Amino acid sequence: MSDEDPIPGWSPDLSIDQGLIDADHQYLFNLTAAFMSGGRQFNTPDQAYDLVHRLVEYASIHFRREEALLARINYPDAIDHHLEHIRLEDGLAEIQKTVITTSGDQLAFVSDLMGALINEWLVTHIRSYDLPMKAYVEQLRQSARNTPPIDDLTLL
Ligand SMILES: [Fe+2]
Ligand SMILES: [Fe+2]
Repeated sequence: MSDEDPIPGWSPDLSIDQGLIDADHQYLFNLTAAFMSGGRQFNTPDQAYDLVHRLVEYASIHFRREEALLARINYPDAIDHHLEHIRLEDGLAEIQKTVITTSGDQLAFVSDLMGALINEWLVTHIRSYDLPMKAYVEQLRQSARNTPPIDDLTLL
């Protein structure tokens, strides 16, 4: 993806659960919007530190939440998906290390790393890894709908 590519945004075709996961993803798009619309460039080290810090926090909460859902829906590629989360988190940790030690002379380098990681996350990961969960979430919902209330079951 080049700088001329449009800024990715959340749209209903990315909806997975109409709940917390969608809200998380919308938060991710909002979190990165300023950086993406600013030409994928940090202007100051503080700006870089602030975004990377928020993304590290967000990733930890969101990925664990998503992995809990993967387990709940018996997702067949859960391990592969988890490994992709680890890879994104490792990438963020690398950027964080660079940002903490940068005095500003590496801002262009950090901006490039961050732009690439965000693109990978927003464009590739959500579409290729998260979106296929949707069918399984729907299946779980359907089976819950078809399960009679507990009062109707003959337990003994
Ligand atoms: Fe994911
Ligand atoms: Fe996700």
